[in-house]
Amino acid sequence: MSDRFYVTTPIYYVNAEPHLGHAYTTIVADVLARFHRLAGEETFFLTGTDEHGDKIAEAARGEGVDPKELTDRISSIFRATWPKLSIEHDYFIRTTDPAHKKVVSEILKRVYDSGDIYFDKYAGLYCVGCERFYTEKELADTNGLCPQHLKPPEERTEENYFFRMSKYQDWLKGYILDNPDFIRPERYRNEVLAMLAEPLDDLCISRPVSRLSWGIPLPFDDRYVTYVWFDALINYISALGYPEAEDYKNFWPRANHLIAKDILKPHAIFWPTMLKAAGIPLYQHLHVHGYWIIGEMKMSKSLGTLVKPLDLAEIYGVDPFR
Ligand code: ME8
Ligand code: MG
Repeated sequence: MSDRFYVTTPIYYVNAEPHLGHAYTTIVADVLARFHRLAGEETFFLTGTDEHGDKIAEAARGEGVDPKELTDRISSIFRATWPKLSIEHDYFIRTTDPAHKKVVSEILKRVYDSGDIYFDKYAGLYCVGCERFYTEKELADTNGLCPQHLKPPEERTEENYFFRMSKYQDWLKGYILDNPDFIRPERYRNEVLAMLAEPLDDLCISRPVSRLSWGIPLPFDDRYVTYVWFDALINYISALGYPEAEDYKNFWPRANHLIAKDILKPHAIFWPTMLKAAGIPLYQHLHVHGYWIIGEMKMSKSLGTLVKPLDLAEIYGVDPFR
């Protein structure tokens, strides 16, 4: 048996306070970390907050505050919530940490130098809630609305930088077929294989500063900041002190990512292809769960349908709540 274990939660957006969905993934991660610690394994449990991008800039504008002020405030609410639910993470990362920003810049530079990032013009339908472009086909079942947020996406035409994700499509498909437990459970592995059955687009990885300045500047063009997903996913290695630190060397080979199905594509497709392009080994497993729902919709900050975990824990006690 391997004597180390690394477990991560998504890093949560700081556009609103934690709700039951965030508590759920984080408690599951805590239970796993406790199990592996008890089994005598050296365990590293990571959580944190995702703080750049349109969505955060928009939330800050809505409150009439600086993004920095909003992110400091909400990030500290997330950080203070977990110990109250008996969650014992080893490290709490913020994507505004200077050490994280440095790793993102280094990786961008490396992928750019290797020729896997190019400049191009693009027009598409963008959902700020999801921080991603949608194809018309993906919106067909919801009358052109974003299926997650039920809002019309914005038309956007921009010159941007693109990551040659399509180049790695066949390799990724092969890897998932050869490693049946890479993505678990099987129904989500099948969903990813279905996504990979269609041609994969390249990934737009920049935003012009003229429209959005709240992000990590591109190391090769300061008229742009980094797309929030390219920034956020890297937290899983920057938190370990990539590339030099012992924690990175010890724990990265045993990385277990926990997520809900809303962010399957970034974790199952963007992240492995980014790692491959940067010459970094892949994580070990991706574990995917479903949604806590209200009515028929996912409980969500963006939709304003949320149950506050600390309220429930106060009524029922922390252990019964967990
Ligand atoms: O997506 N049911 O952050 P996010 C179950 N910053 N789990 C839920 C849930 C629900 N109704 N709602 C949220 C982001 N979650 C990005 C992640 S990672 C590099 C960047 C949980 O604040 C679940 O774990 O929208 C889901 O994947 C995550 O919160 C999304 O959190
Ligand atoms: Mg979300």
